[in-house]
Amino acid sequence: MRNAAITGWGMYVPDQVLTNADLEQMVETSDEWIVSRTGIRERRLAAEADTTLAMSTRASRQAIEVAGIDPADIDLIVLATVTPDKFMPSTASLLQTELGAHRAAAFDLAAACSGFVYALAVGSQFIQTGVYRNVLVVGTDALTRFIDFTDRGTCILFGDGSGAVVLQATDADEGVLSNVLGSDGRGAQHLYIDGFASNGLFSDNGNGHIEDLQRTYMKMNGNEVFRFSVRVMGETAIEAVNKAGLRLGDIDWLIPHQANLRIIDAAAKRLDLPRDRVWVNLDRYGNTSAASVPICLAEAADSGKLQQGMNLVLVAFGAGLSWASSVVRWGATGVRGKGFHGDG
Ligand SMILES: CC(C)(COP(=O)(O)OP(=O)(O)OC[C@H]1O[C@@H](n2cnc3c(N)ncnc32)[C@H](O)[C@@H]1OP(=O)(O)O)[C@@H](O)C(=O)NCCC(=O)NCCS
Repeated sequence: MRNAAITGWGMYVPDQVLTNADLEQMVETSDEWIVSRTGIRERRLAAEADTTLAMSTRASRQAIEVAGIDPADIDLIVLATVTPDKFMPSTASLLQTELGAHRAAAFDLAAACSGFVYALAVGSQFIQTGVYRNVLVVGTDALTRFIDFTDRGTCILFGDGSGAVVLQATDADEGVLSNVLGSDGRGAQHLYIDGFASNGLFSDNGNGHIEDLQRTYMKMNGNEVFRFSVRVMGETAIEAVNKAGLRLGDIDWLIPHQANLRIIDAAAKRLDLPRDRVWVNLDRYGNTSAASVPICLAEAADSGKLQQGMNLVLVAFGAGLSWASSVVRWGATGVRGKGFHGDG
């Protein structure tokens, strides 16, 4: 089996900042409440031009540049999103054209906030089994388009953005070491956005047809999701460590989904990691859904804090309810601009 190394990374967030002070003007809340309950201070809002395709294109171009590969050499694009630009074709197919990745297979994957870690598992399998050599894995969401900004229970939490990585085949001792994927559809009602049902009717609107379409917003039972996530983040992270044949003491960094600082702290405690080994940026971006883990990874890689041989745990949870984790060994390509060292 070959290894799937992360050789490129990139990220994009929109320019428009929505601070907690801005939210104080919109709903009955306070900066103090939001920071103490979530850790979030501000988030980015997609402008009209920040479509899922546009954000994905910017993050992907960076990742391809860091990897130093020709887009024409990409074999597969997996784009994790629950906010695609169109019902069809997939946003991944549109992204393929933007990038000039004309040889690639391309599809979208929907696993909400767990989506990127799911997509990383899919992409790395294709490399490990020898089917493909170069895979682009993208996580992008524009959830604020589906947020009711009069609902203080959800509008404080979410932001928009995109992150991407390039996976390449290598014989070196690095890359994706393990994947854990999970789902429990019995919890579906705790976090959802209604939309067009598969029968063509608008599912939130009884007998309504498409012309009766109303704007549809995220619905969330915050307490249920909180309880679920505190349990599942730690459990699934430890399962990925065991599956990789490692011990907790071998883990150097936790790269968690950015939903709530209290949830992240609970996961770090289970992994016995101090705060300075946990990547946190939700104070600046909030919860960017499928983009959150790859944005963290891109920031961590750019910071120079990821050294060759370090073991990273990526872990996420979200609507489904779903969860996913992965252990990644950082490779010699972890220095920006160094270029891929593999065997070509
Ligand atoms: C949403 C969340 C921050 C709420 O925090 P919490 O500590 O559980 O707070 P509660 O829901 O128990 O609410 C406590 C009180 O604060 C109020 N409150 C809720 N949102 C508020 C806000 N934005 N500002 C001020 N008060 C708020 C509630 O109405 C409640 O008031 P009450 O006691 O008078 O009824 C937390 O449950 C959470 O993060 N859940 C996970 C959500 C998530 O991650 N979703 C995405 C998954 S990918």
